[in-house]
Amino acid sequence: MVQKNKTFKASWSYDPAPESTDHIQIKKKYDLYIDGKFVKPENGKYFETINPTNDEVIAEVALAEKEDVDKAVRAARNAFKSWSKIEPKERGKYIYRIARLIQERSREFAVIESLDGGKPIRESRDIDIPLAANHFFYYAGWADKLEYAFPNRNPKPLGVAGQIIPWNFPLLMAAWKLAPALATGNTVVLKPAETTPLTALKLAEIIRDSGLPKGVVNIITGAGKTGAEIVNHPDIDKISFTGSTAVGKYIQKAVAGTHKKITLELGGKSANIIFEDAAIDQAVEGIIDAIFFNQGHVCCAGSRLFIQESVADTVIQKLKDRMATLIVGDPLDKNTDIGAINSKRQLKTIENYIKIGLDEGGEIYQTDCKLPKKGNWCAPTLFLNLSQSHTIVQEEIFGPVLAIQTFRTIQEVIEKANNTPYGLAAGVWTQKGAKLFHLSQKLKAGVIWGNTFNKFDATSPFGGYKESGFGREGGLHGLKPYVKFE
Ligand code: NAI
Ligand code: MG
Repeated sequence: MVQKNKTFKASWSYDPAPESTDHIQIKKKYDLYIDGKFVKPENGKYFETINPTNDEVIAEVALAEKEDVDKAVRAARNAFKSWSKIEPKERGKYIYRIARLIQERSREFAVIESLDGGKPIRESRDIDIPLAANHFFYYAGWADKLEYAFPNRNPKPLGVAGQIIPWNFPLLMAAWKLAPALATGNTVVLKPAETTPLTALKLAEIIRDSGLPKGVVNIITGAGKTGAEIVNHPDIDKISFTGSTAVGKYIQKAVAGTHKKITLELGGKSANIIFEDAAIDQAVEGIIDAIFFNQGHVCCAGSRLFIQESVADTVIQKLKDRMATLIVGDPLDKNTDIGAINSKRQLKTIENYIKIGLDEGGEIYQTDCKLPKKGNWCAPTLFLNLSQSHTIVQEEIFGPVLAIQTFRTIQEVIEKANNTPYGLAAGVWTQKGAKLFHLSQKLKAGVIWGNTFNKFDATSPFGGYKESGFGREGGLHGLKPYVKFE
């Protein structure tokens, strides 16, 4: 766990050390990446992507409509004929090349990710971009070893995959989707989220430069309507979606009765459980990381904290003290802990949940940090005096807002933790291995972290139960949704 400097106060008076944007190439206008080149949208429409710290327009981005989606799918279908048949080792070489190019241009990716989406540069630089490169490296290795992944089953690619990704980890989610699809011999039409399209478009440039055969990867931009055109396109064989549970449900209905395969990675309301025998200081760092990482825009965020009653006062006091040291501000400042909220819309959602928390009788604690007038910001927030029935305990907020409850017994906390429509992740903090293993059996969650939180690795599968979706991404498991067996 990274120990953050505790002497900084949350304030804008702190002398910033912003990451330079020199030599970062951002175009004024981005076209669609279809069939190996950038092309204008058929209807000539563009939309703006803004910098959430100051509401300024960064660039205009093409709005793909039905005709463009159709063109991208045709390119992918055409490319599938040869891509699915080339030597698997050759497929691997291209994927390795993409991985290396991401590494080489990692600074550029990190700065653009933070500019377009608002996340702290320390996170994009140390987490998002390296993990994205690792994902391509990892799946490149599988390309010529599929017969070992699925012994005696003769795995074959599905065809054209439509991939729709969210705005919270833009490049990383593109990597999670593209790498396994390519390694298994599929071709792709990928759509990034409308508030954060820029790193996916930078990735399109890299893919073009890598010499990947044209049409194997097509990257098209647009909002929900463009996503729906992909979902409903008759010549797509597989939909992979990460985003809200509401859209996930819509997609599941839309593909019902078609030949399309589907994986959904949706929302969460993950429990973070602190037992009295935990290493308390480490656990407090873990709570901070679990809820404030990426402004809480994390599907597996530890947004419900359960503290064992005997240590509750201590943990809450330490948590408040630690929260007061968090620096909220410029995402490009290397010392920033909490950046900008991704969009006005998301900020409204979060503020609305804070209001509901108060209206329903929750006790709020927010750090006393000065938030800039322009842009989208939310102070780190926690709520006490809550029970299972409170809205902010049940619903995903997707912001830096922690809902705290206490418990006495293991049985009680297992019941409370599982009492949610979601089942994505959980964290357990205890010095006792047996307790950890017991909870890992009893908690209904796809990922369970022991004495840590929000740790990701290309080799380990990720995905949920219940309304958190189905299918796994990462690891050997992540190959399966992209193959069929003959
Ligand atoms: P969203 O689910 O609308 O957006 C995710 C992606 O789906 C974007 O690329 C969007 O353009 C696309 N999309 C939207 N409507 C579509 C449709 N009908 N068909 C196909 N694609 C469609 O998420 P939104 O509205 O940006 O965020 C709302 C809430 O969703 C958040 O407050 C958060 O609770 C949750 N969320 C969860 C994410 C996760 O990682 N599980 C990621 C993003 C949001
Ligand atoms: Mg943006």
